[in-house]
Amino acid sequence: MGNTFGKMFRVTTFGESHNLAIGVIVDGCPAGLRLCEADIQKELDRRKPAQSSITTQRKEKDRVRILSGVFNGVTLGTPISMIVYNEDVNSKPYEEIKFKPRPNHADLSYYLKFGIYDYRGGGRASGRETLARVAAGAIAKKLLKERFGTIIVGHTIKIGKISAKKVNFEEIVKNAERNPVRCADLESAKLMEEEILKVKREGDSIGGIVEIVAVNVPAGLGEPVFDKLDADIAKAMMSIGAVKGVEIGLGFEFSEKRGSEINDEFYIENNSIKTYTNNSGGILGGISNGMPIVVRIAVKPTPSIAKEQRTVDLLRGKNVKIKITGRHDPCIVPRIVPVAEAMLALVLADHARRSGLIKDKL
Ligand SMILES: Cc1cc2nc3c(=O)[nH]c(=O)nc-3n(C[C@H](O)[C@H](O)[C@H](O)COP(=O)(O)O)c2cc1C
Repeated sequence: MGNTFGKMFRVTTFGESHNLAIGVIVDGCPAGLRLCEADIQKELDRRKPAQSSITTQRKEKDRVRILSGVFNGVTLGTPISMIVYNEDVNSKPYEEIKFKPRPNHADLSYYLKFGIYDYRGGGRASGRETLARVAAGAIAKKLLKERFGTIIVGHTIKIGKISAKKVNFEEIVKNAERNPVRCADLESAKLMEEEILKVKREGDSIGGIVEIVAVNVPAGLGEPVFDKLDADIAKAMMSIGAVKGVEIGLGFEFSEKRGSEINDEFYIENNSIKTYTNNSGGILGGISNGMPIVVRIAVKPTPSIAKEQRTVDLLRGKNVKIKITGRHDPCIVPRIVPVAEAMLALVLADHARRSGLIKDKL
């Protein structure tokens, strides 16, 4: 089973959408990091449902408890375990679609693999599973910030066919959290929000693209050849439900370019080697080069839509139609921003441990 991520900064998550709780164990966090529940809660509140009219209306407080690994506000170097209880659980809408798999969701493939699936809210394949990633990622973020001054931010750059204009790092930090879409170009943010609301009214859903940027990342993270930093980032991002594409730096745009247009040329500033451009997104040969790490992910439209769809009745072996009710995100993109930031933080923390730049105690 694949519920553990990382080699030295290692997280194991558990829980389903409509069971008792979601939780995570973080092993490999060094001793000596100041940590309290508020550090985790701050990030969970950014992922929480029902933040606005463009997210699911499931109302969860997502109040986190740290069960172990912290004493007097400081990490002990022992496993840190955290739990969040599910409170606003309503399984009724799922009774009607029981054993009628939702197109584009994980219902059918879980059933084919395990012969059973938790049809209540997607079970383990629910977006709610990402809560555990964000809790663990909050620790990784804090560790990276204390040790290297690393800052990781994400923002929405596309919803459907609406693209945001290019913005710099400062604008992302300043503007992304100022609107429900998490788009740093405030004009496009309005259009995107209208588009999501329109799609929602039509009983439909829509996809988009999120960009995640990490600055002050030390050079030397990444373990060629199979655990290259970009390879592990791609795996981390693709492990998030609904993520269907990953780009580093220019990504797919590289395919249309000449070397002379995109090569990042070097120069020296304050005794360190930098590049004039950053088309490689901070990674060369699978190793960070000290420039900002730039990752983009493509997010598909939410599978659960209110429009009538064709599916099968697994018990009766018949073709049937379903209309999905219940509470769903009309667009997953804004909620995936903190999740993607968390996954990038987990990869960087793990590689910082593996490279020896972060040791057993801070
Ligand atoms: C933060 C987040 C929220 C999500 N919300 C929903 C939702 O409300 N309804 C839904 O059908 N899918 C939702 N999903 C998507 C499903 O979890 C995902 O599509 C499903 O597990 C199938 O996996 P795949 O799309 O990666 O193939 C969400 C995903 C994330 C990451």
